[in-house]
Parts: sequence; C-alpha cells; structure tokens
Amino acid sequence: MKYRYLGRSGLLVSRVCLGTMTFGMKDWGCDLATSTAITDRFIEGGGNFIDTADMYSAGVSEEFLGKAIARHRRDDLVIASKCWFRMGPTPNNKGLSRKHIMEAAEASLRRLGTDYLDLYQLHGPDPYTPLEETLRAMDDLVRSGKVRYVGCSNFHGWQIVKANALATARGFSPLISGQHLYNLLRRDIEREILPACADQGLGVLCWSPLASGLLTGKYDAQGGPAKDSRVGLRAAIDMPRYWNDASFRIIECVQSIAAATAKTPGQVALSWLLHDRRVTSVIVGTRRVEQLSDALVCGDWNLTDEQQRQLADVVPFAPGYPHEWMQITAANTAGHEV
Ligand SMILES: NC(=O)c1ccc[n+]([C@@H]2O[C@H](COP(=O)([O-])OP(=O)(O)OC[C@H]3O[C@@H](n4cnc5c(N)ncnc54)[C@H](OP(=O)(O)O)[C@@H]3O)[C@@H](O)[C@H]2O)c1
Repeated sequence: MKYRYLGRSGLLVSRVCLGTMTFGMKDWGCDLATSTAITDRFIEGGGNFIDTADMYSAGVSEEFLGKAIARHRRDDLVIASKCWFRMGPTPNNKGLSRKHIMEAAEASLRRLGTDYLDLYQLHGPDPYTPLEETLRAMDDLVRSGKVRYVGCSNFHGWQIVKANALATARGFSPLISGQHLYNLLRRDIEREILPACADQGLGVLCWSPLASGLLTGKYDAQGGPAKDSRVGLRAAIDMPRYWNDASFRIIECVQSIAAATAKTPGQVALSWLLHDRRVTSVIVGTRRVEQLSDALVCGDWNLTDEQQRQLADVVPFAPGYPHEWMQITAANTAGHEV
C-alpha cells in the first residue's frame, strides 16, 4: 500500500480509502460480521484511511465501524466522517449551523466509540447558513481536540475558494480535502472543482469510483440491470447518472486494458483516477471481502501514461467554456517567454 499526503497537510492516508456506506445497508450492503471482516482485511492490507458519515444507514454505519475499529489501534487509523444530511424531524437537525455541527460531531463520536475524528467533512454546501458560522464551528471542534482536520464534499469550485479565503483571513483551520463524485464515466469535476482543489491545497477523494459497479464490467448494456442488483435497486439515481451508450464504450476499453495487463476492470478504473496526482485516494465501497481484496491491488499498481490517455480519449471530454476560449486565445498572449 502506498500513501499520499492529504492536500496541503502533513497527514498521510492510504491511496485506497475504505468507504462504509454499505455497512448496515439493508438492500445492497452488509451486516456487522461482514463489515468487521472487510475492515480487518483493509487494515491487514495496509489501509489506514476509512470514510463514513452520520447519515449512512441512519447512524448504523458509524456504529458498525466503531465496533470494527475497536479491534485495532485507533491512533494508527485515519477516521473520516461527515455531517449535513437531516438526522431527525426537528428543524435544526440538519445542515451546517453551529448548533447542528456541534451536536452531529458529538453523536458521531459516540457511535464510533472514539474521542476524535481525524477528518470531519461538510457533506454538502448549506445555502442557508453563513459560511463563516460553519467554518468557525469546525475550527472550534479542531481547537477542542475533537477533530484533527477539516474537509468538504460536493462543494462547487467557487465555494471551495471562498471557504479557504475566509479561513485564511480569520485564522480558521482550512479545508484540506474535497470528496467528490469522480470516475471514468462522470468527469464533471475536471472543469472547476479539481482545479479549485489543487489551487487551494485540497486533496481530492473520489466517491463512487466504480460508478456503482458498472466499471467492473458486470452489467449488460442490452439486458439492463437485474432488479436485485445495486443499479437495479437504485435505478432512479444510477440509470440517469451512468447508463448510456458512451458509458458502455468506455467500459469496453477498460475491459480490453484489463485483459492486456492481467488486472480486473475495477482495478483499471481505480488506477485511472489515481494516475492524477491531484487525487489523493479512491473511496472504495464493497459488500464482500473479495471485492475489497480486488481494490487493494490499486494501493500499489499504476497504469502507464499511454493507458491513462487511451481511456480518457474513448469519449473525448468537453471541458466547455471558458476552457475552450482560453485554448483558442492563449496564443495571443504568449510567445515572448523563453
Ligand atoms: N460524499 C458523498 O456524497 C458520497 C456519496 C456516495 C459515496 N460516498 C463514499 O464513497 C464510498 C464508495 O461509494 P460507492 O459505494 O458509491 O462506490 P462505487 O465505486 O460507485 O460502487 C461500489 C459498488 O460496486 C460494487 N463492487 C465493488 N467492488 C467490486 C468488485 N471487485 N467486483 C464487482 N463489483 C464490485 C459493489 O456493489 P454490488 O456488489 O452491490 O454490485 C459496491 O457496493 C462510500 O462507501 C462512501 O464512503 C460519498
């Protein structure tokens, strides 16, 4: 397993991060025994970085993870959680207000059975709460010792830049990580979010790196997803997100590179993300120990530059305006440099 520094910080995390959204999930997840076995295998395989959130299975993911890590040395692990989603029916039980952040952090610590979170992430942007209130609350958690580092998830590029400008001006802990949807089938973050993270010192953590399992090559384009498969069960989300002709052209290329390198399609898809040094870790979701073992190979296996490009070029990614304007006009401003 190889490790990377998380953004502009001194924190080393494994290139493969264990995602725990499946822990306690009824339809497409796993029970306590399997969650524990997956965690054991991850740590044995050199992984130190584990991601959860208060809302995963309404707190059960954190409870299962708490039981699983109790069998290991807490300080050797980097435990990340998040808040933002509604956690109860009363008005303030959601979002990024000072009140909710403080209460959500205490509840996560209780469920996880730990005194501190290594990384506490804002699960999404809150349009109703002033960013200054949110960042001050997070900074207070850091100063109290309950949180080590602060990160965000699903933010726009401009919100990342605004947050860290504000953090610098006020002396708050800056965001050091951005957790975003990124895989070979959905490259949206290449437009604004990846550049913003790189500029502001945030390491990128990729969620859904296997596109709900499509990138393992196990789904049949013609037949459609089986009703009891993960994509079948989550059809309302996953079909519009991933299921189209372009996706299956990319998956075919992933399969051919997998055959040529004697790796699995999933390993090729994960390594494609890790090829970009702006990416710190891929957050791998699994519901079986064997699936995790498959992913762990990517802790220490790289695609060549040529293979990376080949995959990127199957369906050329259109970065859109203003990137294309810059490409056309850059020549007008250059030419005098040596
Ligand atoms: N910040 C956010 O908003 C956000 C959102 C979503 C997720 N996350 C984080 O990211 C993590 C991963 O997300 P995700 O579950 O959506 O990831 P994903 O990479 O899109 O999908 C993972 C799924 O792929 C299938 N799979 C995994 N390995 C496989 C293998 N070797 N062979 C065949 N199938 C395999 C499994 O589903 P089946 O076995 O059921 O087919 C597994 O549940 C989560 O656990 C969570 O920590 C964060």
